[in-house]
Amino acid sequence: MANVSLRQVRKSFGATEVIHGIDIEIGNGEFAVIVGPSGCGKSTLLRMIAGLEAVTAGEVAIGDRVVNDLEPKERDVAMVFQNYGLYPHMTAFQNISYALRIARRPKAEIRERVERVARILGIEDLLARKPSQLSGGQRQRVAMGRAIIREPDVFLFDEPLSNLDARLRSQMRVEIKRLHDDLKATSIFVTHDQVEAMTMADRLVVMNQGVVEQTGTPRQVYRRPGSTYVASFIGAPAMNLLPATLSGDGGAVEGRGMERIALPHDAGPGRSGRRVMLGIRPEHLAVVPGDGAGLLSARLLYAEDLGASRLLHCSHRRRRVDCPHAGRDRGPPGRYIAPGDGPGKPAPLRCR
Ligand SMILES: Nc1ncnc2c1ncn2[C@@H]1O[C@H](COP(=O)(O)OP(=O)(O)O)[C@@H](O)[C@H]1O
Ligand SMILES: [Mg+2]
Repeated sequence: MANVSLRQVRKSFGATEVIHGIDIEIGNGEFAVIVGPSGCGKSTLLRMIAGLEAVTAGEVAIGDRVVNDLEPKERDVAMVFQNYGLYPHMTAFQNISYALRIARRPKAEIRERVERVARILGIEDLLARKPSQLSGGQRQRVAMGRAIIREPDVFLFDEPLSNLDARLRSQMRVEIKRLHDDLKATSIFVTHDQVEAMTMADRLVVMNQGVVEQTGTPRQVYRRPGSTYVASFIGAPAMNLLPATLSGDGGAVEGRGMERIALPHDAGPGRSGRRVMLGIRPEHLAVVPGDGAGLLSARLLYAEDLGASRLLHCSHRRRRVDCPHAGRDRGPPGRYIAPGDGPGKPAPLRCR
C-alpha cells in the first residue's frame, strides 16, 4: 500500500506543454478520481504515474520513493485501460496469469492465484475463452483480473468503463468500488464522466486544460465549486449560472428578471453593486402555483419527461435554466412561482 504524490508535475510534447505544474496528494488506500473533459491531460498524467511517459519537470512519488527514473515494472502499479489491452490470442487464464508466468512463478501457485482472482471477479467459467469470445463487460473483468493478480500498491484506471453500455457501466462502478473496499489498494481512476466521478470518488480531482481546478470530496466539490468551470462541469443537470448584482449588504442578488434572491449566509460578503455569477443547482429551483415577490422569471422552452418527474428546460434572459418538476402535470403556463430563498430551500422561478 502506498500514497501517491505529484509535485509540480509538468509534461511537454515537443514545444507544447500539456500538463502545467500539477500538485496532487493521494492518501494510502484512497480511491481518487481525476475527472475532466477529453484532452485535458488525464491519460498523460496517469501514464506518467505508471512510468509509460517521462515527466518533463517535477516529481512523482509512490510511498516514500521518487519514481521518476524507475521503469514501469519497478513501480508496483497496475493499469487498466479503456480498450482492455488484452492479448487476443491468449485465453482469459493466460491473459490474467501473464505477469506471473513472466516472473516464472510455480505452476501450482499461478493456478491458485488465477482462480482466486477469477472468484473475486465472478469469471471462473470464462477462463478458457479468448477475448473474442467474451462480451465487453467480461473483457473488462479479465483486464481487471490481470491487474489485481499482481497485487500492486497502486491501481491506475484509464476510463475503463467508457466502452460499456450504460447499464453495465453502473454495475461495474459498484463492482470496482466493492473490490476497492476488499483490496484497499490506493486507486486512481480517470474519467470524463462526472457521474462516474461523483459516485466513485473518495477524493475528486477536477482537471481542466492541464491544471487542477479543484480537489475535495465529491460533496465538497458539489456544494462548493471553486470556479464556474467546476460548477458547470460537476452535476447533472448542470448548475444554472446567471449574471446578477449584489445588493444591500451583499446578502442578496438582483438582476433583470430577478427580484432580490437572498444568498446563503456562508456565500461570503461582497460590495453592494458588484457583478457576480449566481449559481443555483436545478434541484434548488422549484416551480409551484402562486404569486409573490423574489422571483426569477424564465420562459419554458421544453419539458422533458423523465418518468418519475419532469425536467423543465427554461430560458432566463437568453441563459439556460433547468429545473426539475415533480410529477407529470405541468398545468397551465404562467402560473408557476417557487417559494423560499434560503440555503437548502428552493429558489424562486416563475415560468412564462
Ligand atoms: N504522444 C503525444 N504527442 C503529442 N501530444 C500528445 C501526446 N499524447 C497526448 N497529447 C496531447 O496532450 C493533451 C492531453 O491528452 P490526454 O492526456 O490524452 O488527454 P485526456 O486523457 O484527458 O483526454 C492533448 O492535447 C493531446 O493531444
Ligand atoms: Mg484519455
